[in-house]
Amino acid sequence: MKRNKFLILAGGTVLVVGAGGYLMSDTKNFKRNDLKANTSVNSPLTADEKEILYLASLAPSGHNTQPWFVQYIEPYHWIIGNDKTKWLPAVDPTQRETILSIGAFMQNLEYAAQNLGYNCQFDLMATHNQDENLVTVKLDKKGDIHPFDSKKIAQRRTVRSNILSDSLKKDDLSYLIREESEFFHFIPNTSKAYKILNEQTVEANKIQAYRDAAQTELAEWIRFSSKDAENYADGLTTAGMEIEGFAGWLVRNFYGKANVMKKDFRDKNIDNVRKEVSQSAGWLLISSKGDSVITLLETGQRMQRLWLKVRDKNIAIHPMTQILEEPATNQALNSSIGISDNIQFILRMGYLKTYPEPVSLRRSVDRFLRI
Ligand SMILES: Cc1cc2nc3c(=O)[nH]c(=O)nc-3n(C[C@H](O)[C@H](O)[C@H](O)COP(=O)(O)O)c2cc1C
Repeated sequence: MKRNKFLILAGGTVLVVGAGGYLMSDTKNFKRNDLKANTSVNSPLTADEKEILYLASLAPSGHNTQPWFVQYIEPYHWIIGNDKTKWLPAVDPTQRETILSIGAFMQNLEYAAQNLGYNCQFDLMATHNQDENLVTVKLDKKGDIHPFDSKKIAQRRTVRSNILSDSLKKDDLSYLIREESEFFHFIPNTSKAYKILNEQTVEANKIQAYRDAAQTELAEWIRFSSKDAENYADGLTTAGMEIEGFAGWLVRNFYGKANVMKKDFRDKNIDNVRKEVSQSAGWLLISSKGDSVITLLETGQRMQRLWLKVRDKNIAIHPMTQILEEPATNQALNSSIGISDNIQFILRMGYLKTYPEPVSLRRSVDRFLRI
């Protein structure tokens, strides 16, 4: 007998799906391992160059836009650039987060190069966040090279769910921040500042969820179906957003940009944020002195060095940047928590029982390489 499923979707639409219909639907979350290996033969890159640039591209970026490109000059000599088509003007109008993300890309690149025996020489080209050409990089095998285990780059990921509220052990915290303690500020979940950050994160998310420009931009970067996820290989997928099971199936098959603008979608997001902020050992803020291009690149590198260490200690990182993105919450931030330097990252942190594998997608190297 044919068994039908009745589904009531957001907005009250009733849907009937038979077993056959289910099998023909988009049945599972599309993940990083589902991406086909790139078989392009026209690339001028050596195997080492390809591996280094692939590992560099595993850096995090806001909405997973992957805002970098690499201009090939000659073997082991490139320009790292800022891809204007990947900017997020509604939430990042000054490209602050774009430059931080490219800093993370540079750190991955350097570590991946060291793993293969190369040192990197970076030279700044840009004077503004909006400049296309940011830095040149040259790789060579001269001098002392400290190898870095590049498995750590491949295993890094953002984790948003199931973060525990247990306090961070003193030794673990020291392992993470001791070398750069001037820039790292850990705010444990027992402090007054922690409560302020929780409240303000919810407040900023409320503002942003009802700011149509920000919500439209978010919708542009959600890859609802597996087909879109595979074609674009960027943005926020159901797997990346940690929407699993039946909810993931619904989103992949029946949701689109228009849903993001509906009240129930916006409110569900705010509810999620409330739940998320109630679970953590605390917040880690990363500050900088000033906000020039070089300072932002260095801060992105610093953030990535931290992020590549946390898995050793079973600790999750979840950036929640809305306080910084919304002027109404950003203005009061420094004075309310007593930090005078520029705050560049707000990271929710805590232990995990089990560390999930990375799932977010990346465009292949030939898609961001300019020859
Ligand atoms: C500058 C920056 C800002 C980010 N802001 C947020 C955020 O506000 N909320 C969130 O859930 N993730 C945020 N992220 C995480 C990205 O969504 C994530 O890095 C991207 O989707 C790729 O996933 P991965 O980190 O697991 O590789 C941010 C990342 C960066 C680098």
